[in-house]
Amino acid sequence: MPDAVNAAASQTLTLDLGDRSYAIHIGEKLLDTAGALLMPLLKEKRVFVVTESTVMSHQGDRLKAALKSSDIEAKWFILNPGEATKSTTQFESLASSLLAAGIDRSDTIVAFGGGVIGDLAGFAAATVLRGINFVQIPTTLLAQVDSSVGGKTGINMPLGKNLLGAFYQPKAVIIDISTLETLPRRELLAGYAEVVKYGVIDDPDFFSWLENNGPQIVERGAGGANARTYAVAHSCAAKARIVAEDEREHGKRALLNLGHTFGHALEAECGYSGILLHGEAVAIGMIMALDASVRLGLANAADLERVTTHLKDIGMKISAREIGRAMTADALIVHMTKDKKVEAGTIGFVLGGIGSAAVHRGVDLDIIKAVLHDSL
Ligand SMILES: NC(=O)c1ccc[n+]([C@@H]2O[C@H](COP(=O)([O-])OP(=O)(O)OC[C@H]3O[C@@H](n4cnc5c(N)ncnc54)[C@H](O)[C@@H]3O)[C@@H](O)[C@H]2O)c1
Ligand SMILES: [Zn+2]
Repeated sequence: MPDAVNAAASQTLTLDLGDRSYAIHIGEKLLDTAGALLMPLLKEKRVFVVTESTVMSHQGDRLKAALKSSDIEAKWFILNPGEATKSTTQFESLASSLLAAGIDRSDTIVAFGGGVIGDLAGFAAATVLRGINFVQIPTTLLAQVDSSVGGKTGINMPLGKNLLGAFYQPKAVIIDISTLETLPRRELLAGYAEVVKYGVIDDPDFFSWLENNGPQIVERGAGGANARTYAVAHSCAAKARIVAEDEREHGKRALLNLGHTFGHALEAECGYSGILLHGEAVAIGMIMALDASVRLGLANAADLERVTTHLKDIGMKISAREIGRAMTADALIVHMTKDKKVEAGTIGFVLGGIGSAAVHRGVDLDIIKAVLHDSL
């Protein structure tokens, strides 16, 4: 674990899933060489790029040039930015457009954007013609450290988020850290919560490293590039390790839900709107999980204090009260009982101190209610 981060070269990790294993390329300016990275994966020298207009305006020319320089023909599907694009109607429209453009099973879909595009394009890849190869080129911090790796794809239903989906792994993930230079600071901070999550789950050394280097990571612009590269690579390695062990979330993968049971309830209460971004909800949710852990004797108060101080120092909201929206502990508990992670009627909470997270079922809901109450 480097104290000071020096120039970070590009690197390639492998997510080990037997004959479905794939490379995760991480580095500065990889977008400009995306054509060369894609070439060995393509059966036809053409790609179907699914993206959205904000990503296109900031980073589109770079991918266009990279594909051109490798002589790869590209068909572009440029959708609207935002969570609403992960809908059944947008999915149907995208699937129709791909088919109308003549996609066949020897083609490759490229998901170029944040988690919204990755999830939607991945789900289209999983389902159109019963499966088309796809490659993820994530452009948000959240997508680079979390959603692009691991093969969870899906869309939202009127009844709730991510209710229609498939486990479907990409053929590669190409992460260009420099794409984060145009990402709004609020989005960068939200993605950072998922980075912190890996430290809290089972990597106390990484958490300590983040305490020292976090400010550089969330600073907009090129300044923090080396720290960002290190943090993204470390996060991807953690995710790859966990997914390789438990692809379908029967055990260890559930640890990645740290802070999410609380966070999803907060998001639901805010109507999945711009009031509260997913990562912002996860940051508050992680603190709630640590608070509950302290009350249950599963963590030291010092761990709660460290995580709270770090997230606060970095500029994140640390309590539900800061969201500025009236909500009650009872309403949040109702959302938790509806979470899709509920099994046999009991809510699974990821609890523990820094580096010792584990799933706990049958937790006394009065303690959870007290945690929520104190955060509101
Ligand atoms: N599949 C998984 O395992 C998984 C895990 C976590 C989250 N998710 C999903 O991911 C989605 C959230 O992803 P997200 O936070 O990336 O949201 P997003 O895709 O909506 O991107 C956030 C914002 O950043 C903009 N943007 C993207 N890249 C940019 C760039 N380089 N420069 C400037 N602006 C840029 C987008 O236009 C958007 O406004 C949710 O739908 C969530 O359910 C999936
Ligand atoms: Zn998350």
